[in-house]
Amino acid sequence: MSAVALPPLASPAEHFAPMLARDLDDVLRIEDRVYPFPWTRGNFQDALSAGYSSWTLRQGERGVRGDMIAYAVVMIAVDEAHLLNLSVSHDWQRGGYGWRMLEWMAQQSRDHGAHSMLLEVRPSNLPAQQLYERYGFDRIGVRRGYYPAHGGREDAVVMRIAL
Ligand SMILES: CC(C)(COP(=O)(O)OP(=O)(O)OC[C@H]1O[C@@H](n2cnc3c(N)ncnc32)[C@H](O)[C@@H]1OP(=O)(O)O)[C@@H](O)C(=O)NCCC(=O)NCCS
Repeated sequence: MSAVALPPLASPAEHFAPMLARDLDDVLRIEDRVYPFPWTRGNFQDALSAGYSSWTLRQGERGVRGDMIAYAVVMIAVDEAHLLNLSVSHDWQRGGYGWRMLEWMAQQSRDHGAHSMLLEVRPSNLPAQQLYERYGFDRIGVRRGYYPAHGGREDAVVMRIAL
């Protein structure tokens, strides 16, 4: 029997969806892997209860619960958005998803009336700082001892962008 040439597999679609309680097992699996001091299930539940803009990015078409690629949480207060969490699964990093998630959260924030976005990042987190700087965030200050760290506390670099 002769071999049949199959067409190459199309790369599967991805879709954004609001984060729901049923997403939290996947979220926490990623969270625990990518942070030395991860958010807890309670932190995410509080964010969902408070109505913070919380989104996931999954593989597959809308309605298909494929692999979780990324997620993010933004708190919007009047005209300022505060990016509280932005995470890409270790397996999907360096694929442009952090950038796409950031764009999505910026658009959500604009749609809810925010004119600027603020975030904190660890000085030791060079990948995230690179992402934010390339995206157009400016460094506007430092919060002393903001983060827990092994053997003490770590400052936060505060960054801001006009939306
Ligand atoms: C930071 C993070 C969100 C970046 O997501 P990502 O999907 O890997 O990033 P992208 O592929 O979209 O990269 C966009 C740009 O960010 C920068 N960047 C991302 N990862 C980088 C790395 N490891 N080293 C240097 N620059 C990096 C680059 O400028 C990159 O552009 P390039 O690929 O053209 O060079 C991801 O590494 C992550 O989830 N880290 C753990 C959680 C975290 O630290 N979140 C931020 C908390 S403030």
